[in-house]
Amino acid sequence: MFPEIERVLIDEARIRARVHDMGAQIARDLTADIARSGMSADGQIVLVPILTGSIVFVADLVRQMPLKLRLGVVAVSSYPGQSMQSKGAALRGEIPRDLGGKHVLIVDDILDSGRTLGLIRRLIEEQSPASCRTCVLLTKAVPRAEPVVADYSGFDIPDAFVVGYGLDYDGYYRNLPHIAILKGHAVKGVHP
Ligand code: IMP
Ligand code: MG
Repeated sequence: MFPEIERVLIDEARIRARVHDMGAQIARDLTADIARSGMSADGQIVLVPILTGSIVFVADLVRQMPLKLRLGVVAVSSYPGQSMQSKGAALRGEIPRDLGGKHVLIVDDILDSGRTLGLIRRLIEEQSPASCRTCVLLTKAVPRAEPVVADYSGFDIPDAFVVGYGLDYDGYYRNLPHIAILKGHAVKGVHP
C-alpha cells in the first residue's frame, strides 16, 4: 500500500483480538471498583484519551467496554514536526476539570520515554480522582525518562519507530489498520 513501509509488525487480527481482551479486562476492573465504592456507576468512569495518537485505539477499545462511561480528551504534543526524538511533552489546551473522586483511565497509543503519560497522570492526580490508571496499545523497549509503567499494555515492541492504527510520522500513516515499521527506521536488536 505504501512503498515507504518496511514491514508489518502487528497485523489487524492480532490488534483486534488484543483490544477485545483489554477492553474486557479493564471493564471487569472498573466494575469491581464501582462495586467496592457502593455507588452507582453513573458519572463515575472517565476515559482520558491523549490526542491525536490514541484516537483509533480508544475508538475500538470503548466498544469492547460495556460500561456507562464518559470521554474527556486531552491534547499533548511531543514530536513536533518530523522529529523522532521526544522533546518533552507539552499540554495543548485544557485538562478535564471534574475528575475529583472519579475512576479515570488515561489512554495513549504508545509508552516511549514516559513523559506524556507522566505529565498527564500528574495533572490528573492533582484533582484527587478515586483511581487513575494508564492504558497503552504499545510499550516500547527503551529506558524511560520518567518512571511510568502502564497498568494495561497491548504489546511490547522493540526500539523501532512505528506507524499505523493512530500512530503517525509527520502526521501521516495514522489510517493504516496495522502497526508497521517505516523504511530506514528498522529494529535495533530487541525482539517483540
Ligand atoms: P513519550 O512521551 O516519549 O512516552 O511518547 C509518547 C508519545 O510519543 C506518543 O503519544 C506518540 O505520539 C509518540 N511516539 C512515541 N513513539 C512513537 C513511534 O514509534 N511512532 C509514532 N509516535 C510515537
Ligand atoms: Mg501522541
